[in-house]
Amino acid sequence: MKTRTKFVCQNCGASYAKWAGRCDQCDQWNTLLEQVVEEAPKTKLKAAASTGKRLESISINSIAPADESSRLKTNLPDLDTVLGGGILAGSVSLLAGQPGIGKSTLLMQVAAKIADNHKVLYVSGEESASQVKLRAVRLGASSENLHFASSNSGNDISQTISGGEYDLVIIDSIQTLSIDEISSAPGTVSQVTNCGNLIIRAAKSTGTAVVIVGHVTKDGTLAGPKSLEHLVDVVLNFEGDRYGGFKTVRAIKNRFGSTTEVAIYEMTDKGLEEVKNPSEALLAERQNTDGSIILATLEGTRPILVEIQALVNPTNFGYPNRTASGFDLNRLNLLIAVLERRTKLKLDDKDVFINVVGGLRLQDPAADLAVAMAIASATAGKKLSEKYVVFGEVGLGGEIRSARGADKRIAEAKKLGFTNAIAPATIHDKFVLPQKDLRSALIKHMDK
Ligand code: TYD
Ligand code: MG
Repeated sequence: MKTRTKFVCQNCGASYAKWAGRCDQCDQWNTLLEQVVEEAPKTKLKAAASTGKRLESISINSIAPADESSRLKTNLPDLDTVLGGGILAGSVSLLAGQPGIGKSTLLMQVAAKIADNHKVLYVSGEESASQVKLRAVRLGASSENLHFASSNSGNDISQTISGGEYDLVIIDSIQTLSIDEISSAPGTVSQVTNCGNLIIRAAKSTGTAVVIVGHVTKDGTLAGPKSLEHLVDVVLNFEGDRYGGFKTVRAIKNRFGSTTEVAIYEMTDKGLEEVKNPSEALLAERQNTDGSIILATLEGTRPILVEIQALVNPTNFGYPNRTASGFDLNRLNLLIAVLERRTKLKLDDKDVFINVVGGLRLQDPAADLAVAMAIASATAGKKLSEKYVVFGEVGLGGEIRSARGADKRIAEAKKLGFTNAIAPATIHDKFVLPQKDLRSALIKHMDK
């Protein structure tokens, strides 16, 4: 039989008959790799319809639920909350993040803690035993029950998990693994998904909890763990600034819990530490200049006050530059359009830069009003009262829309000594200076 090949995107798994520079599915460049198509012959496929057995089903009432009390506690209370109360036995989680963000550090801390009363195996395909030991010493991890193995073999690792000897197995990272039966290189979609499947099967059959590390790269040349996301039970995203600042861990998928919570960390010389009062830390170095607005935001269900900075400069040459750090660039462009149309602010000949202080990446729609006011403040060179916080979503008509969790935002602002909130008019609270639309909000409060 003639071997047929296809081109598979190593970022999202889409396949094509011809090579192309860009993947149409995920818009990544240079991710298509040629792979051999392995198909079962047609006659065998026909037979498949009659070779299956009928399933034995039982009433849902007679099924015993998974034992919630057996969740492994990580000693990082916020991380436990993100996980839905700890790591569930038999669950497979993926911790995804950019290189250097602190994935290995976080998992070594977790492993060390859980090893206090469980058997834990840390498998590294990236670092040697002595390198891992160095990190363990730094983090004070020294439990007899914490085992280490260095391996790149998906076969060996899944076999080890199948042994059922360990309660928790950490695999660092999926991109370094391969199984012998597949010839493609480690990190390709077929290796990542097949290793993932093998490991998941082993975990489920023995009730072993498994945490897999997955690297995501900005340019997407390496296999993103995207294809794995569908297979695992929990996907944790580790984001933030690699060099200082806050880092957040949030669940973007969780079969055993919610995806609204977030844990906030700071890298110290003794590993990652939970940030207990993020608002205080974020506001500590504030200078009340024009373009600086305090946003009362929600990260999950937790209120945080964070400074939004805007810088607006005349464009020197050509097309105006718009840059956002910690805020969605499309959203920024939209807000600029709304500002121009609804408030008569002229921005088409100005560069606009937005920075969210402290490395947080805002996903809160109520950040709109704060960003818009920061731009207006920077453009006009006028300051907002330093005792005000701001929140609210901005619509295309310039109207200010309600925000969830207003009471929590207000409580946090009061706690930190703010006197008022510039917020949607739908909120009835003495603390709030109610705003219906962007234009009147700017006229009223940006005129000092
Ligand atoms: P690492 O966990 O190796 O990142 P990843 O596994 O995501 O690639 O570590 C990230 C950085 O953290 C690394 O540059 C070293 C630094 N670090 C500390 O600052 N303090 C510590 O206690 C440790 C262990 C690492
Ligand atoms: Mg690492």
